[in-house]
Amino acid sequence: MDFRFTEEQLMIQDVARRISREKIAPSAEHHDHTGEFPLENIRTLGENGLMGIEVPAEYGGAGMDPISYVLAMVEIAAADCAHSTIVSVNNSLFCNGILKFGSEEQKQKYVRAIAEGKEIGAFALTEPQSGSDATAMRCKAVRQDDGSFVVNGKKSWITSGPVAKYIVLFAMTDADKGAKGITAFLVDTTKPGFHRGKTEPKLGIRASATCEIEFQDYVVGAEDVLGEEGQGFKIAMGVLDAGRIGIASQAIGVARAAYEATLDYVKERKAFGKPIGAFQMTQAKIADMKCKLDASLLLTLRAAWLKGQDQKFTTEASVAKLTASEAAMWITHQAVQIHGGMGYSKEMALERYFRDAKITEIYEGTSEIQRLVIARNETGLR
Ligand code: CAA
Repeated sequence: MDFRFTEEQLMIQDVARRISREKIAPSAEHHDHTGEFPLENIRTLGENGLMGIEVPAEYGGAGMDPISYVLAMVEIAAADCAHSTIVSVNNSLFCNGILKFGSEEQKQKYVRAIAEGKEIGAFALTEPQSGSDATAMRCKAVRQDDGSFVVNGKKSWITSGPVAKYIVLFAMTDADKGAKGITAFLVDTTKPGFHRGKTEPKLGIRASATCEIEFQDYVVGAEDVLGEEGQGFKIAMGVLDAGRIGIASQAIGVARAAYEATLDYVKERKAFGKPIGAFQMTQAKIADMKCKLDASLLLTLRAAWLKGQDQKFTTEASVAKLTASEAAMWITHQAVQIHGGMGYSKEMALERYFRDAKITEIYEGTSEIQRLVIARNETGLR
């Protein structure tokens, strides 16, 4: 076992840190306040290889490993969680499935523009009535004689939906078969039959745009079926395994930002004649924050390492996401508490970290679903 990062991994971490500090952190408050999508920063991230970190160079990406992805995501999320949401969807949810299951034509057509940050990608699984129970979807795709499909139905909570050019869509092609009746499709949002619905007003990650989408007799050609008919649920689950590494990294980034702000504050702020960091009650919180942060990072790197070795990492990704997201919620909560009134004020970033951290316990599988995945895999029972 070697705990050192490679030169390449350190290099991409450095690039992500530089852009995060110079461009993302200074505009984070503005983007949170206005909810404006940070297109210019996303383009910059794309130009520097950060929108397709694990995508091979021949498809427009940086060709790096999953550990590099973790390191970059942590830096971006530490500057602004909303930016890291957009980065994670392009990198993990959009590109991963196409790289693994897509044809050469699909990789060239759909992955390149997204990996280069020239276009935005999205992933459409959730529906108004089906979130955790993903197989309960109603969006239907009906096969035509020429091999194309006609899609009708709604999807909700689509991250980057308002700006996405391409979407990986999951729709039911044979309702009698349940999970085995779901098929994945590649959708071009400029084609007829694609509509955007209401944009969600959100508690946090406000600059990552989220909306409902609707398909009305939208035609997908046979060449845009991803993988095989009926393979969609497995594709979705495999992609989410990888996505959960990204969300764990995001949780670590926002938690680290809150932790570092707290470390500075407890040394400066005085009460009863000494820095509040000298009080044991504060020290206990600092120690617990540090332990949770380190544990989250090590667990996330373990999942990323397994992915890089082409080994199964479903349980490890869920362990990482569950641990890191609950740590992020706890750390940002304690950081607000330690900052007192200042933590509650919009004049500091702490309250934003607290609001942003919450989503990591919800999307790409709630904490309850992570526990279900871990326990099912550990016990073999369901
Ligand atoms: N990899 C590959 N295949 C998998 C898999 C995995 N990780 N997990 C399950 N499968 C396969 C199973 O092997 C099974 O196939 P077989 O019958 O051939 O064995 C099939 O999929 C069905 O599996 P289950 O019976 O376990 O399915 P289930 O209905 O019990 O659901 C679940 C399992 C874990 C609860 C799943 O529905 C789930 O993960 N739900 C959460 C969904 C989720 O994370 N949504 C997030 C939306 S996307 C999002 O948030 C994006 C964003 O905006 C940023």
